[in-house]
Parts: sequence; C-alpha cells; structure tokens
Amino acid sequence: MCGINGYSGHRRAAEVIMEGLKRLEYRGYDSAGVAMVEDGRLVLVKRQGELEVLKGVVPRFEGRTGLGHTRWATCGRPSDRNAHPFLSCDGKLAIVHNGIIENYTVLKTRLETEGHHFTSETDTEVLIHLLEGHYHGDLRQALADTVEDIQGTYAIAAVCEGGTEIVAARKENPLVVGLGVNENFLASDVTAFLSYTNKVLYIMDGETVSLTPTGVKVYDSQGELVKREPSLITWSAEDAQKGGFEHFMLKEIFEGPNAIHNTMLGALDMIENGEILSRTDFQTVKVVACGSSFHAAMVGKYALEEFAGVPTTLELASEYRYSPGAREAPLVILITQSGETADTLAAAREARRRGCRTLAVTNVVGSTITREVDEVMYTRAGPEIGVAATKTFLTQLLAMYLLSIRIGYAKGTLSHDSMRGALSSLRQSSNMVQSVLNHVHEIEEASRMIDSAQHCFFIGRNINYPTMLEGALKLKEISYIHAEGFAAGELKHGPLALLDSSTPVIAVAIKGDHTYEKMLANISEVAARDSPVLGVGSEGDTELARLCERMIFVPQVKPVFSPIPVTVALQILSYYVAKRRGCSIDKPKNLAKSVTVE
Ligand code: AGP
Ligand code: GLU
Repeated sequence: MCGINGYSGHRRAAEVIMEGLKRLEYRGYDSAGVAMVEDGRLVLVKRQGELEVLKGVVPRFEGRTGLGHTRWATCGRPSDRNAHPFLSCDGKLAIVHNGIIENYTVLKTRLETEGHHFTSETDTEVLIHLLEGHYHGDLRQALADTVEDIQGTYAIAAVCEGGTEIVAARKENPLVVGLGVNENFLASDVTAFLSYTNKVLYIMDGETVSLTPTGVKVYDSQGELVKREPSLITWSAEDAQKGGFEHFMLKEIFEGPNAIHNTMLGALDMIENGEILSRTDFQTVKVVACGSSFHAAMVGKYALEEFAGVPTTLELASEYRYSPGAREAPLVILITQSGETADTLAAAREARRRGCRTLAVTNVVGSTITREVDEVMYTRAGPEIGVAATKTFLTQLLAMYLLSIRIGYAKGTLSHDSMRGALSSLRQSSNMVQSVLNHVHEIEEASRMIDSAQHCFFIGRNINYPTMLEGALKLKEISYIHAEGFAAGELKHGPLALLDSSTPVIAVAIKGDHTYEKMLANISEVAARDSPVLGVGSEGDTELARLCERMIFVPQVKPVFSPIPVTVALQILSYYVAKRRGCSIDKPKNLAKSVTVE
C-alpha cells in the first residue's frame, strides 16, 4: 500500500504535493519522493525514511505540475534507490505506482535485453521503461498500452517533461481525481486534496485518465471517453483517511479480502516453483512468535501436520530464547507482523546460534527480522495502524497454509493434484472473508450478548482452538473484558467451575470437522450451566443453532481453512463490543503496535 499524489494547476505543485503526502503517510512511510516539471524539465528528489526526511531536502520548486509518492515497500527493501518516482532512461518521463506487478521479472529481463537500464530492485521500475517504449507523443495512450503488458494490481501516475498533463491508470488500487478551478488533483485517497476541493471523480478498474489544469478526461479500457458525474465529499479530512470508517481497526478488517489477494499474488509463484524453502531436508518444524502471531503459529502447526505430516512444535519467542533447546535442529519459522518484536528477533538469533535454518514470515519489507534469518516470506497486508492485529493476522494464516502446502508437496506428502487442489481452495479465501463482511450488521447485533459481561469464554477444538484464543485476545485488548480461550475438551478439567448465567461463551463448531459432534456435546455442557452461548458455525447449520442462544454464521468451507472466516467474524464481534463500551479502539491502553522491548 503506497500513497500517490499529483497536482497540475496554478499553485506551486511541490507545496501542494508535500501537504497531500503528509495526509497519505498512513499508507506507507518507508520512503517518499517527488517529480516536478521545473522550467520544462523533470526534476526528481526522493529519500528513504519518513516524509520529514524528504521535506528537509526538497528545494523551493516553482513548477506547477508534479507527482509525489510515499512508499510501503513490497518489492525491494526501503532505500533511496527503491523510492518512487522513477525516471525513464532519457529522463523525460516519471512514474509512481501503488500495487504489485506480478510478471515484473520476465518484463525486466526483456527490457534489459532491449537496452533499458534499471536503477532499483523494485517491480515498479519496469513500468517506466515500458512507458518509455510505448510513448510516441500521447502519454495517456502510452500508459494504456503499458498496462496491457502487465499482470498484477496497480494505481499508476505518470508525467512528461515540458507539459502540464498527468496521466493515470488503476486496477484494484484506489485512485481519485479532485476537481478544482484551473487546477486538478490526483491521489490515492481524497484526504490528500480535501483542503482544496471536495468535488471528486473516482477512477474505476480498467480506466485511464488524463488531467491538466483545465480538464480531466477519463477513458474506459476500450479507449472510449467515460461520462461520470463528480461526487461531493462531506467528510472531514480525518474521516476520509479512515475511508469513511469510524476506526482504523474496522477499515483494516474490511481490507482483509484485498490483503489476502495481494499475499496470494506475491506468494503463489514462489510456492508453486519451489522458490521458497528450496531445501526441505529438515525433519521437524518449530514455529516461534508472540501474541496474535503466536496464534497464527498454532494454526500453522495444524496445517503443517495436515498438509505435510511434519512433526511441529510451538514456542513463545519470549520462552524460546531462554529455553535449554533440544539437540535436533528443526526448521524454525518466526512469525512477526512488524518484524521488530524484540523477543522474536532474539529468538531468531538464538535459533541460528543453535544451527537451525530460519524462515521469517513478516509484513514489513526491510524490517530487522529480514536481516536475521535465512529466508523471508512476506505477507502483503499493507500498513496496519490499529494496534490490534486484524488483516495482518489473516495474512499470517494464509502464509502458514501456503508454507504447509509447499512443504507437503516437496516432501511428497501431497501429490501434485492435491497441492493444486489445496491452493485452489485457498484462492477462495478472500471470497470467504467478503461474505463474512457482508453480514457485519448481524455480528454487530450479536455483540449485544457480550458488551456488559465481566468475563467471557471462547471455546473451540482442533484448528479452531487457536482461533478462539485469538478471539479472546482481541476482545481483551480492545474492550478490556476479561476473556479466556479454551480447548473445549478442557472445560471439564477446571474452567467449568467458573460458568454461570453471567458468563457468555462463544463457541465455534464447523460442520464437517471431525470434532464437530464433540463440540456439540461441549456446548450442551455449557448451556446446562446456564451460560448464554453465542455459536459460530457454518451457514445453514440448524443443529448447532438449536443449542445456542444466538448464532453467527460463516460460509461453508473445508474445516482446515475455517479459521479464516471465523477469525474475521470474531474481529468484527470484538470491534462492536468495544465500540458499545466506548473504548479507545485503535489505541488500547497500555499497548503498543510494535513491542521493541523485552
Ligand atoms: C495483536 O493484536 C497484538 N497487539 C500483539 O499481540 C502482537 O501480535 C504481538 O505483539 C506480536 O507482534 P509482531 O507480530 O509484530 O511480532
Ligand atoms: N510494489 C511497489 C514497491 O514495492 C509499490 C508498493 C505498494 O504499493 O505497496 O515499491
């Protein structure tokens, strides 16, 4: 996720763009840059680090047309070289991009043979060389031809020296035009220019746009002009940054399908071609992490055993680093969203000291963990602002499924057909999440069962036991209700003593799972102690519904993948409980997004 900002008008473009980039910084802050048309020539300034760094070096430009970018790296570590914008070989064109170009390696090889000179490790840079090849005087047409060559997702904007035109294209990444008087704006979201205009044109997938100070033209994928009435924005700039959602957490939950889609896009080739974990000569796996990432590790253990049959152990990073350690050397997988958690970094060093091969699953390109391990697998959820992990947790689950399938296939536990079957089921996961999101209001209603409780239990079995631990953690974190997750079979060994009519129990039972009947029995035990049960189960499951006071339904899925929709349902549930209790949802008390102390 990156922020794009463009301006063409009568003001100093650099000033408008720097102000806009500040508002887009939540979309990424690895590096930032601007490209200005200054006395007819293109001038580029870009720097690694937050916008402040760029601000310190941007001179007083006089140009009235330009582009800006704030980056959240997905391909190529954060650095000055990898910062956007990029210039064509002749220095006459500049480009910025948000998204992932899936086929960039093939394109890069081709472009290099054609004589183009690359200066960065990014996927984005192929775009400027393609554009240069297609440019014969009509910039918008050149961009339309460029997007024909690429696979992946994008919002792209480009400028040319000597002109006042900005052109742009989009597929699955946001792009919006702001309409002014003798000036027009382009950005990833309206916050960038809301202080100048609230009259906007949303650009749709497949469209291209040409923008000058006096006109904006939108074209469809056939090159036909599109007629669209502008919309008027009535939100404040802060609301707009949250995309109209009240909190970042809810916005980020709703970004789940896209986060999954991007993670799949980035990883599928690596998995199918064996580019990740090319050596699978280990006998056992250990997964190490903290907090929510540890719960993703637990789901990973079930997945690893199911798809790869590899014995897997789990350890909290804070424990692993001080544990005596067994003699065998497992593959150690470290999961950390931020890539900066002190305990997990120390665990990575310890694992290497013990002679283990290490692989990190992280969401942040260039984070410290990436330098501490042998291999990295990126989740591509985009920056997460809410302290509670939501979309990043989902993509960690996805990464663990993908790795399990990869190991299973490499070790011969999965046949080629089963590997492809499992991957194609996984491809459905963004749809699964979307259908849960479509029922957000029913989940909001269900949250009334919990909002005044002092204690709350979450119970599940098998692969949904960790899902319930995560559900309980989410509720604790943002609503401050004391919540505990249990393996449902464990209730009778003690916790049952705590149950009465004042303690709601959230219970998950997925039809088709081999522990389904056992779960029904556990739910009956709970109901017999008068605890109100909120069931989470498969669409149409009347048997479960009969035992529960209320139900949250999730789409019917293969039980092994059910943690994906169940997790999203529980995230929404916690969100609404916390909202009704008036809690500080995005910044819960006593917590921090990334825990860099021991
Ligand atoms: C999750 O909602 C948390 N705030 C927290 O448990 C988090 O998962 C943990 O601190 C680990 O962070 P990491 O993934 O960045 O290492
Ligand atoms: N793939 C581009 C890069 O890594 C854009 C990243 C993004 O949009 O998140 O620079």
